[in-house]
Amino acid sequence: MAPLLQVENLEIVFMEDKTPTVVTDQVSFTVEQGEILSIVGESGCGKSVTALSILGLLPPNAKVNKGSVLFEGNDLLKMTEKELDQIRGNELTMVFQDVMNSLNPVFTIGNQLVETIRIHMGYDKKKAKAYAQELLDKVGMPDPKAVLAKFPHMLSGGMRQRAMIAMALACRPKLIIADEPTTALDVTIQLQIMKLLAQLREEFQMSIVLITHDIGVVAELADRVIVMYAGQCVEEAPVHQLFDRPSHPYTQALLKSVPGIYDEKNRKLESIPGTVPEKYHTMEGCRFADRCPYATDLCRNKQVYREVKPGHFVRCHLGKVRGEELSNG
Ligand SMILES: Nc1ncnc2c1ncn2[C@@H]1O[C@H](COP(=O)(O)OP(=O)(O)OP(=O)(O)O)[C@@H](O)[C@H]1O
Ligand code: SF4
Ligand SMILES: [Mg+2]
Repeated sequence: MAPLLQVENLEIVFMEDKTPTVVTDQVSFTVEQGEILSIVGESGCGKSVTALSILGLLPPNAKVNKGSVLFEGNDLLKMTEKELDQIRGNELTMVFQDVMNSLNPVFTIGNQLVETIRIHMGYDKKKAKAYAQELLDKVGMPDPKAVLAKFPHMLSGGMRQRAMIAMALACRPKLIIADEPTTALDVTIQLQIMKLLAQLREEFQMSIVLITHDIGVVAELADRVIVMYAGQCVEEAPVHQLFDRPSHPYTQALLKSVPGIYDEKNRKLESIPGTVPEKYHTMEGCRFADRCPYATDLCRNKQVYREVKPGHFVRCHLGKVRGEELSNG
């Protein structure tokens, strides 16, 4: 079966002082029907920009320079705003980190949810209200009926996040892109909401792209993982393969920097020594070379992206540089 989403060779450019800067390039991945794909990587590596470009929501000073984003075989990047609106908020929705800015402060949760349902599902007001209440109940909202009458500022962070997820689910999307959906919440609520997403995936048969810094969540929920570094995918693998046999030195360092994956206090990806190079988009070779203990001249001059096992891709020369097969390949 063809993948639900197929991102091919995506390149995104920001205009800064009239100078174009490439922030992500050669980004390719697929999302299969019903799977949870997680995207991880340090701050600024291009996770949000990639997500926003899929939905056509990049800021005005950014544009997609190259590539395609096929959703059920149709290129979202070639669609008009009107065509995109048919898909966005219908079959493809997004949950943002900043919920306060995503919910309208002057309308009650009920108004916003009922309106979304009416627009996307074509229900009359009564049916839409009943469905809104049912959705709030499904996302574990306490006292859904009362919440319908409340304004966003009257809810706790966890409740607002649940309301946002209910909104994203309202049209029974085929794909939800969740960008750090729980960062602002405490760990217990984060876990609850993530588990809820996984449960809803089963119930609604949908796919999820989950962008997160929380490696514990990745280990628990994701089917496959993409690791991004300096605007590129540097490793892609099924989740167990990635945790058991991380092949890119950056992934290895990231996983080593997490003291205990299942330890609640230390679930976040920590930064590793060194910094991401400035103007990385102008580099011919590996963007991790300055931080990599195995770097050689070949690494600094040329990039590769290769499949070391079926479904396991790595942007690294490793094995070749050291004159041996990848020890984990
Ligand atoms: N509005 C903007 N104008 C200019 N450059 C931007 C803008 N937004 C993002 N960028 C650049 O694009 C790159 C990718 O940013 P992005 O927000 O996608 O990172 P991220 O991986 O989501 O980070 P985080 O984990 O902090 O959310 C960064 O280098 C950033 O400087
Ligand atoms: S290509 Fe070379 S420098 Fe880059 S991560 Fe691999 S071994 Fe390190
Ligand atoms: Mg982000």
